[in-house]
Amino acid sequence: MHTRDLLSMRNTGHPGINSLFAKAHSADWDFEHDVDWTVPVAPDDPLVADGWGAFGKTPTFLALPEPVRNHATRRAVGRMLNILQVGESVAQNVCAKLVLLLHEEDYRNHAAAQAMDEARHHLAYRRFIDRMNERVEDIDPGTEMMFDALLASDDPLEIIATEQFFLESFAMSIFESLRADAKHPLLRRIIELITRDESRHMGFGVLYLAEWLRRQPLDRRIAFARPWLSQILGSLLDRPGPIFLARVIRRLRDAGVADAERLAPQMLREQEEINAADIAETVSGAKVPHLLKSARRVGLLEPEILEALDFGRHPLIRAALRSPEGAAAD
Ligand SMILES: [Fe+2]
Ligand SMILES: [Fe+2]
Repeated sequence: MHTRDLLSMRNTGHPGINSLFAKAHSADWDFEHDVDWTVPVAPDDPLVADGWGAFGKTPTFLALPEPVRNHATRRAVGRMLNILQVGESVAQNVCAKLVLLLHEEDYRNHAAAQAMDEARHHLAYRRFIDRMNERVEDIDPGTEMMFDALLASDDPLEIIATEQFFLESFAMSIFESLRADAKHPLLRRIIELITRDESRHMGFGVLYLAEWLRRQPLDRRIAFARPWLSQILGSLLDRPGPIFLARVIRRLRDAGVADAERLAPQMLREQEEINAADIAETVSGAKVPHLLKSARRVGLLEPEILEALDFGRHPLIRAALRSPEGAAAD
C-alpha cells in the first residue's frame, strides 16, 4: 500500500458498518476501572454453577462430594478461559492484519477498533486466570490447528468468515452460557463487558459477508455456503462425548476420586441422554443458535442455496427458518 492509495480511500457508505466504529467508542469500557479487581478469587471457588461444564449435569457427577465437583468445574472454567485468552490474541492478530489488507475506510476502521477490543479482552481473561492462581489445562490440538490456519491466512474474506462470522457467532453461545451460570461476580462482570463488544464484532462479520454475498453470482454463493453450512451444522451437533469424558475423569481423579474410571460408562450414558434432549430442543426452534441466526442474516439460508446443497430438509435449518427469532435482525 502507498500514500496514494490512502489519499482518497473509499468508504463503502454502509450505515451499519460505519456506525460500528462510532459504537466502539460510545460503548467503550475501561479495563482498570470498570472491573472491580479487588474482588478475591478463592482457591476452592467453582466460579460457575455445577451444570456449566460438560458432564456437569449428569446425576453421577451431581452425586459426587462438593469439593470434587468444585475442583472439576473450576478446571473446566480455567480451560475455557485459557482458550478464550489465546483466542483474543489470535483475534487481535487477524484484525491488525485486516487493517493492512482491507482498502475500504469503514472496514479498516472497524478492524482497528476491534483489534483494541481484543487486546482488552485478552488482558481481562489473563488477569482473571492470574487471580485463579493455578496452572490451567492446555488448549486442545483441534483448537490450536484452527487458530493456526486462521493466523496463516492472508485472504480478507476467509479471515472475516472464520473470525467474525464463524468463531464470534460460535463464541456468543459460550458467553451466554458463562453469563447464565457464572457465580463469581468478577467473572460475570468481565463476560458481560466482553459480550457487548463481541456482538459488534459478530455484527461486522455478518454485515460484511451479507454485502459480499449480495454481489456474487449464484454459483459463487453456493460454493461459499457449502463448507460453511457443513461446518456450522457439524459444530451445532457436536456434543460432549468420550474425548471430553476422559478429561473430566482426569479431573475427578486429581480431586481424589480413586475409582473415577469406574464412573465413566454411567456418566457417558447419562450425558448421551442430555445431548439428545439438547438437540431436540435446538431442533424445536425454541432457541435458534447464534451461528444459524448469523447464517440466515448473511443469506446462506436462501432457498436457492439450500436447494442446490440439499440442506433444505435439515431439521436445524428448518427450525432456524421457522423461528421468528431466526429472522431477527439483532
Ligand atoms: Fe474478544
Ligand atoms: Fe471479538
